[in-house]
Amino acid sequence: MSPFWLRYSLRRVHKLMRFLLVSDLDNTLVGDDAALSMLNQSLQKNREQMYLIYATGRSYASARALQREHALLEPDFWITGVGSEIYRDGAQDPQWAKQISEGWDRDQAIFIAQQFQPLSLQPISEQNPHKISYFLDPKAHTNTLIDLQRALTDAGLAMQVVFSSNRDVDILSAKGDKGRAVLYLREQLNIPAETTLVCGDSGNDISLFEHSTLGLIVGNAQPELLRWYRKHGRPGHYLAVKHYAWGILEGLHHFQLGR
Ligand code: GLC
Ligand code: MG
Repeated sequence: MSPFWLRYSLRRVHKLMRFLLVSDLDNTLVGDDAALSMLNQSLQKNREQMYLIYATGRSYASARALQREHALLEPDFWITGVGSEIYRDGAQDPQWAKQISEGWDRDQAIFIAQQFQPLSLQPISEQNPHKISYFLDPKAHTNTLIDLQRALTDAGLAMQVVFSSNRDVDILSAKGDKGRAVLYLREQLNIPAETTLVCGDSGNDISLFEHSTLGLIVGNAQPELLRWYRKHGRPGHYLAVKHYAWGILEGLHHFQLGR
């Protein structure tokens, strides 16, 4: 628990400034409808005092479908495809796309990844110009992804391999993940790390926690994120007891964000 004076001054800062809430969708914000509806009510009360960003592995179309199915609030920005795309007012941010193109060569990466037998391509709907996604065979050798990363780097490609939920493998630009996309938007909105809370549950959320913002891991998090937290977690990170959006509510209360 932070000292009283710090909590007091943070409360004052939060009252004066807009805070930023960034949340992953599947199994973080979405997963328990009663919790989601409670959280939505609470966020609506604070809507003028905050920016809301969804950061998801889904494509934009699929994230919009999820929004309709679960009555998600309209966010200020969408970070989709694990940070490979940013959308605002229904349009993609071309500057972000340009920024993450450096060192990216889609065809060469696919050529390299094809040589890894345990990888099978995800449906075309989940591929985009700056994201190549595969499923990993559960029987794959534990070194498969380390070897894939090495092969990409050795070929001179600035790309990163992200593993989530014991199944999903994303090849992304080294500059284009969820965490860097949030940093890019924070710089535009002029929001400091101390008034930003990022929330997630799985491997593709790790990059969110790698910057100096506040961070909330829901109680139902996947082993790869919990492993990362045990190794790299710091005081600004909070591991909730509760699951899904209940965990986000727990985190908002813990960090005294909103009302
Ligand atoms: C979402 C995406 C998928 C990706 C996974 C992990 O499920 O649809 O393409 O691999 O998130 O990032
Ligand atoms: Mg998730």
